[in-house]
Amino acid sequence: MSSINYSEKIPNNVDLANDRTLQRALEHWQPQFLQWWGEMGPTDFEKADVYLRTAISVDAQGWAHYGVTRMPDYRWGIFLADAVPGRSIGFGDQMGQPVWQQVPGEYRSTLRRLIVTQGDTEPASVEQQRLLGHTCPSMYDLRNLFQINVEEGRHLWAMVYLLHAYFGRDGREEAGELLARHSGDADKPRILTTFNEPMSDWLSLFCFTYFTDRDGKYQLKSFAESAFDPLSRTCRFMLTEEAHHMFVGETGISRVVKRTLEVMKELGTDDPARIRAHGAVDLQTLQKYLNFWCSSSLDLFGSEISSNSAANFASGLKGRPDETQYEDHVLRDKTLNVAIPEGAQDVPMLNALNEVMRESYLKDCEIGLKRWNRMIERAGHALRLSLPSSRFRRAIGAWAGLPVDPQGQMISKEEYGESLPGWIPSDADKVFVHSLMQRVIEPGKMAGWIAPPERGVNNLPVEYEYVKLH
Ligand SMILES: [Fe+2]
Ligand SMILES: [Fe+2]
Repeated sequence: MSSINYSEKIPNNVDLANDRTLQRALEHWQPQFLQWWGEMGPTDFEKADVYLRTAISVDAQGWAHYGVTRMPDYRWGIFLADAVPGRSIGFGDQMGQPVWQQVPGEYRSTLRRLIVTQGDTEPASVEQQRLLGHTCPSMYDLRNLFQINVEEGRHLWAMVYLLHAYFGRDGREEAGELLARHSGDADKPRILTTFNEPMSDWLSLFCFTYFTDRDGKYQLKSFAESAFDPLSRTCRFMLTEEAHHMFVGETGISRVVKRTLEVMKELGTDDPARIRAHGAVDLQTLQKYLNFWCSSSLDLFGSEISSNSAANFASGLKGRPDETQYEDHVLRDKTLNVAIPEGAQDVPMLNALNEVMRESYLKDCEIGLKRWNRMIERAGHALRLSLPSSRFRRAIGAWAGLPVDPQGQMISKEEYGESLPGWIPSDADKVFVHSLMQRVIEPGKMAGWIAPPERGVNNLPVEYEYVKLH
């Protein structure tokens, strides 16, 4: 059951060979995907041999195989976690009934929209990151970037499989559109704003993988609860891959903090100008990058009060992450006190689920902050990094467009306008950070703004030649 068939054109564990119509449809989409990868994937590295992991089974233990491959030859495929025998719906008004193996007609368009929106983020991030290989701080990091890129490509496959297998012609059309929209494109942008933000430096990549891939984790966890069983199984396996993306973010920022503290010690100063002159990222600048990507990612959870999220929960389409940790799974007579600009309000819990998810996401985000602040504290500095308030710089929901400072206080429009360049990366900050982005490619060597990782990939040494450039 768990093993993946690699003898076919499209590796899969869904017995594709016995569904010729679906197989043909996906084999028709495959060259379009490869063309998209060639045009929009990592530039100029198609001939490089990269040390990558590939899924070989969906067992949590030993699911991946490591080996050298060129990225265009990566075996993208369709891998679902094993079905849970007798699984029943775990939340909402139909709780306890058997899960669905097909899409109920009344939920068809909503489910398709949810899958398309999730699917759209996967290729979007590959597009956002396509130039970063040219400025990698080390060969180790270059390999990690490519690992993330090929897996986001596979996540697109995961969603396209659902569209093709369960949504007929509409689904096939949507699968085509997933390759037609492009990150930052003026005419056909990606669906969600965060996935249209340019990502031109590695500090942004580490923040993106810390904050935005973590949003991905929360979305996937909520879909893993879905009554639509194929979606649940697809997302459960995607989560296995996703963990590495957040690891890259958390350890990447840790290594930046570590290097900055070393430079501060060496120079005996905490003056940002002197730290910058020495080629490291001052902590104030790092804070601005955290503010930018965290606030952008908070919008991905949607409005504080949402009838859509209520309907999606009640009908069993989308649960809360880790639904089993809660006692009440129906939520028909619960409320939540939600802070909106007009004051705190008791809102039916069903309508406040975006906020529930956003709050548990922020708690998860705090873990890295604690780690980085311990490093700063141990080095004897008073500064502490922090997460911005969930009201700061919001573009969606009750706080959208309001002048709120990173601590969550409403201020005047004028003060907000004047202060914003001090809270998120200014043009001058970006110019500085870009100036640090010089490619370092000698195995084991690191750029001056980042410390080496504690260990290499898959028990290999840090100085292993993870990418063979030709
Ligand atoms: Fe993904
Ligand atoms: Fe990811």
